[in-house]
Amino acid sequence: MEYRYIGRSGLRVSPICLGTMTFGSFCDKKTAFTLMDHAYEAGINFFDTAEVYPVPPQAKTVGITEEIVGEWLKTKPRDSVIVATKVAGAASGWFVPPVRYGLTAMDRHHIMTAVEGSLRRLKTDYIDLYQMHWPDTVVPKEETMEVFDELVRSGKVRYLGTSNDTAYGVTKSNIIAEYSGYKRFESIQNNFSLLNRRFLDEMVQLCRTEKVSLLPYSPMAGGVLSGKYNLEAEPQGRFTTYKNHPENRVQLMAKRFVNEKTLRSTEQYMAIAKELGIAPATLAIAWSKQFDFVASTLIGANSLAQLEESLAAADLTLSEEVLQKCTAVHNQILYPMG
Ligand SMILES: NC(=O)c1ccc[n+]([C@@H]2O[C@H](COP(=O)([O-])OP(=O)(O)OC[C@H]3O[C@@H](n4cnc5c(N)ncnc54)[C@H](OP(=O)(O)O)[C@@H]3O)[C@@H](O)[C@H]2O)c1
Repeated sequence: MEYRYIGRSGLRVSPICLGTMTFGSFCDKKTAFTLMDHAYEAGINFFDTAEVYPVPPQAKTVGITEEIVGEWLKTKPRDSVIVATKVAGAASGWFVPPVRYGLTAMDRHHIMTAVEGSLRRLKTDYIDLYQMHWPDTVVPKEETMEVFDELVRSGKVRYLGTSNDTAYGVTKSNIIAEYSGYKRFESIQNNFSLLNRRFLDEMVQLCRTEKVSLLPYSPMAGGVLSGKYNLEAEPQGRFTTYKNHPENRVQLMAKRFVNEKTLRSTEQYMAIAKELGIAPATLAIAWSKQFDFVASTLIGANSLAQLEESLAAADLTLSEEVLQKCTAVHNQILYPMG
């Protein structure tokens, strides 16, 4: 397996990272341990979590995923695993997280409180990559970057990253860091898949010029690119649960991922995968990790069979011809996730 550096950091990670956001909700602890063991034995050294996981985030379950990951981490030599976690972003935006009474902000108090909670649940004395889960448009970025910098200098955190951020947000934060002598964001986690290529419109320029790595999340569009969804049936899966969830925000997420355009595109990607003799899931993961600005693609799995189809992409390189066929699907059905 080819390992890659995240940004200009010393973190050398597998091209596939096992995301853990369903551990403790869609996936029980025993299965989670089996999946993490299997991934580790296959050469995966990178695991991503967050203080608000599992999904969908709820007050009664928040923190469980980090506890599961922390317990598992104890079974492995600490330095053989690269652990990423995230501090919940500002409550002033699209989502009020069920932590710290829904008053979160990217200020000193919340970042310091969050990191202590994550270290405790992860049962470790350092986090390899500490990420802002989503940005804050109220608190000045000078304050946020100063606090993040202190975490690195104190040894609690090795490197910093951001998520769900814009080109403006990353650039401004990293310019502040550069001129203040602070540590910068080495990575960005954004949604990026065959069904959502928005990242290629603008963010790509930032990543290439500034050597900030993309860690794409939902590369299988949360399971849609496996081909199991259609408009009539209700297969077992995240978006069937989300479609019937009481919260409007969660129902909207199901509609964004499973709609007439995403399903029509998926059918075409399934045909490409069939020609290659690989699973559609494998095609989706291989595609997302094949960009020069991607360090590692963040997959999710709730069973060994699912994990295997994603891991099959680890050493797979798609030919130029296949990439062109994928682009042709996109050109025909533009931005299926909106
Ligand atoms: N920063 C952020 O805001 C953010 C947001 C989202 C995710 N993430 C990170 O990215 C990670 C991965 O996200 P994701 O889970 O959305 O990634 P994904 O790889 O696009 O989707 C994974 C999901 O697809 C389904 N699946 C996987 N393999 C399958 C297969 N072979 N056949 C059929 N269904 C299959 C499973 O869900 P079902 O079994 O339920 O169908 C699985 O949980 C997360 O764990 C988290 O670490 C970060």
